Amino acid sequence: MIDISDCDEWLSLKARASAAPTLRSAFADDPQRAERYSRAAAGLYVDFSKNRIDDAILSRLIALARRAGFEEARASLFAGAKINATEQRAVLHVALRDLAGRGYRTGAEDASGLAAAERRRIEAFCAQVHSGAATGFGGAPLDTVVNIGIGGSDLGPQMATDALKSYWLKGRRALFVSNVDGRHLADALESCDPGRTLFIIASKTFSTEETMTNAKSARAWFLQNGGSPRDIAKHFVALSTNGRAVTEFGIPPACMFRFWDWVGGRYSLWSAVGLSVALQIGYPNFEKLLAGAEAMDVHFREAPLEENLPALLALVGVWNRNFLGVAAHAVLPYDQRLARLPAYLQQLDMESNGKSRRVDGTPVKWATGPVIFGEPGTNGQHAFYQLIHQGTDVISADLVAAARVENELGEHHRILLANFIAQGEALMRGRTEAEARAELAAAGRSPADIGRIAPHMVFSGDRPTTSIVMERLSPETLGALIALYEHKIFCQGVVWGVNSFDQFGVELGKSLAKPILAEIAPPGASAPAASGHDASTRRLIDRINALRRRQTDSPSEGP
Ligand code: F6P
Repeated sequence: MIDISDCDEWLSLKARASAAPTLRSAFADDPQRAERYSRAAAGLYVDFSKNRIDDAILSRLIALARRAGFEEARASLFAGAKINATEQRAVLHVALRDLAGRGYRTGAEDASGLAAAERRRIEAFCAQVHSGAATGFGGAPLDTVVNIGIGGSDLGPQMATDALKSYWLKGRRALFVSNVDGRHLADALESCDPGRTLFIIASKTFSTEETMTNAKSARAWFLQNGGSPRDIAKHFVALSTNGRAVTEFGIPPACMFRFWDWVGGRYSLWSAVGLSVALQIGYPNFEKLLAGAEAMDVHFREAPLEENLPALLALVGVWNRNFLGVAAHAVLPYDQRLARLPAYLQQLDMESNGKSRRVDGTPVKWATGPVIFGEPGTNGQHAFYQLIHQGTDVISADLVAAARVENELGEHHRILLANFIAQGEALMRGRTEAEARAELAAAGRSPADIGRIAPHMVFSGDRPTTSIVMERLSPETLGALIALYEHKIFCQGVVWGVNSFDQFGVELGKSLAKPILAEIAPPGASAPAASGHDASTRRLIDRINALRRRQTDSPSEGP
């Protein structure tokens, strides 16, 4: 593999970093800046002009992507090559939304054809549930869905379901249970009528401990509350690649919707894993979600790098991360319905590019994926934006908003949009001490007050942001938005030389939990003193066991 940090493109970007443009002056000097550094595709307008780039930097970034093999990597992705090298798998989530029948394949496997056939089954199943042809054991409609899954088998469908609330079918609800904390399931079941509830067990592997524990407890609850074993087929469906484990669990093959090993868990929303979304918004709207992603796929595949939205976003991110030292990136949707977008993108980005080995197994010598975090605006403004504006670390951010919402409530949406725009402006321009002093003087403050307060009102500005605007949050624009991020993350992985499609980092904690489970005392029982761990781990186990042995439930007693 080439050592990207030794390449001329990288070195010239490095040399350029100390002279990166100052945003305030860059805007003052170039009235065309916003036009120059914004693009539109698939219903999304993306303005990346409030990043510290100029034409020279951008063209070097584009050259860097070419040097890293971006065009070849993109071709390999769409060609169904096994680009997930560690797991020897193709990465073909694009086939799941190949509505136009472009015919993606991997080896002999007709990925698009398989996906289309499974979509027909999902469509038919939705029709049965929605028409009332499929009912619960007492003949009542299945109007409640409980999706049991975690990670990619939860975050995507939950985020999309929340986002598309305007499209919910009347009288239906969807609940999402992911945490192995039993209260998550118990809280959800509290409001469920077993005769009207459809459990969707979503797990690519059908072996994830959290999901299987929740699935077994859900089945036990169902059987204890009026359901019989022969009703399982009416109330439980599985979304998985593992037919054998699904059958062993007791869900018949007819109640299983498949996907394939060329669909990564965090890229699985478009597969059968989207069933809860399709049931909640109706199958035609689910296809529109796929269509929005497909439009972004076409753009990503065909647009030259200079015009390519996912690639440009990726390269701006590389610039911020590797050359300006930005280690954290905030996702700030100015849309309450996108409240779960930051959590979704945390998995998508951090599980994909939180890597320190290159594809060939050698250590990376440069920074890879940043910390991703976020909250909807305006809530975040009253929580952590302080640090983004004035903290000692520079944090980049994506601000996302829809220009229109249905049934605008009074001034709400205008206020929301004004804040969306103002935050980008404030982060870009900052406030000088002279401006702070002038503001205080205009407010009639005394010279002593001005001297005391003005330094605290100084904002450096130059905090990089990208603004993403859509007309409305719809299935199509949501699909395009998610696909934009998927491809952005892919491009960054290519530049950094990592495999964005495995996740070995989540394994160690999982395997260490197994022996510890045997050392945690069951309720009312005791466990032998922990052994074989470091002293801190041992003491934690012993302390927890001691607390669990206590006879009292009084929350007032301290440990
Ligand atoms: O956290 C690791 C992971 O494998 C994710 O990549 C995945 O989305 C999640 O666990 C759930 O996996 P599964 O769908 O197999 O239950």
